[in-house]
Amino acid sequence: MAIRSLLLPLAIVAVLAASSAAAAQLEIGFYRKTCPQVEEIVREEMVKIIAAAPSLAGPLLRLHFHDCFVRGCDASVLLDSTKGNVAEKDAKPNKSLRGFGSVERVKAKLEAACPGVVSCADVLTLMSRDAVVLAKGPNWPVALGRRDGRASSATEASNELPPANGDVPMLAKIFASKDLNLKDLVVLSGAHTLGTAHCPSYADRLYNATGNDGAYGLVDPSLDSEYADKLRLKCKSLDDRSMLSEMDPGSYKTFDNSYYGHVAKRRGLFRSDAALLTDDTTRDYVQRVATGKFDAEFFKDFSESMIKMGNVGVLTGAEGEIRKKCYVLN
Ligand code: HEM
Ligand SMILES: *[C@@H]1O[C@H](CO)[C@@H](O)[C@H](O)[C@H]1NC(C)=O
Ligand SMILES: *[C@@H]1O[C@H](CO)[C@@H](O)[C@H](O)[C@H]1NC(C)=O
Repeated sequence: MAIRSLLLPLAIVAVLAASSAAAAQLEIGFYRKTCPQVEEIVREEMVKIIAAAPSLAGPLLRLHFHDCFVRGCDASVLLDSTKGNVAEKDAKPNKSLRGFGSVERVKAKLEAACPGVVSCADVLTLMSRDAVVLAKGPNWPVALGRRDGRASSATEASNELPPANGDVPMLAKIFASKDLNLKDLVVLSGAHTLGTAHCPSYADRLYNATGNDGAYGLVDPSLDSEYADKLRLKCKSLDDRSMLSEMDPGSYKTFDNSYYGHVAKRRGLFRSDAALLTDDTTRDYVQRVATGKFDAEFFKDFSESMIKMGNVGVLTGAEGEIRKKCYVLN
């Protein structure tokens, strides 16, 4: 993968921004007067964070995804539960969300430089972009001006996040509810080129798949059987929580096309990954990128879809607040 920093032409950004009414007030350079060094500060901290812990790139990207899918990109995923309220981060699909400490660290630097100015939602959006860049993935311009929400709900997180066992119709429906289409689904699933997963996210495919006759306790036939044998060494039973598996074995710290190579060979880890082979549009895309001849196209597509995801349900103007600390309301 030679493409280090594929910066999208601004024209594309303008088109994407114009196509999403909710994002009307997000703007490249939003903090140019109030905190001109915002991007440098985030990048500088991210370089240190990823140098110390390269495996945090995945978790930080995933945090932004979970944030945007529940109540829009409003940093609600960062809030702690309180006495009367169970927050998103304590919902079941949270299992394994990581990177909260890094967000607080970057936010503290920004508070020192420009107190009360930069939202946690913008911090997380920039951090996820930088995580991809530092993992050797594409670069794209991030429009800013998101405001932080004042609520966070575990129930909503459980309902709005796509489940690991989702099929394409179900995943497409959830994505459509965020104004994201089938192409965004197959492109953003490429984020699974980074990171690791716990056994309960895929154990049912190894031990308790259901056959056509309704019998269960089978190995998922859509999973390559040699690969299933390997996975069973790491994931020993339906409730084994001890080991992590790389979703893109061999390059889980590098943002590249190899996730699609695995999926094309029926080695996608989750049912949601395997499902991409069951629909014409998503299968064509998987097989195309898997050839390795369309890396630049994938990088450009990923940049565009990330910009769209970063626009979902944002709060702007006088809505919400600018949190001082990301885990607690002002
Ligand atoms: C298409 C629907 C999706 C489903 C069903 C899904 C599901 C999952 C699951 C079950 C895990 C593993 C959790 C664990 O066991 O620890 C995971 C990890 C991850 N997901 Fe997704 N995901 C989806 C889309 C996305 C998107 C859109 C992104 C980002 C743009 C993303 C980024 C990640 C990353 C980076 C990890 C690894 C996190 C780590 O290393 O801790 N996923 N996903
Ligand atoms: C995730 O939720 C569970 C309860 O469902 C909780 O015990 C756990 O601490 C949460 N994890 C994080 C990282 O917040
Ligand atoms: C296995 O799958 C069946 C059918 O979906 C389900 O009823 C059963 O609870 C599952 N077993 C376990 C241990 O999860």
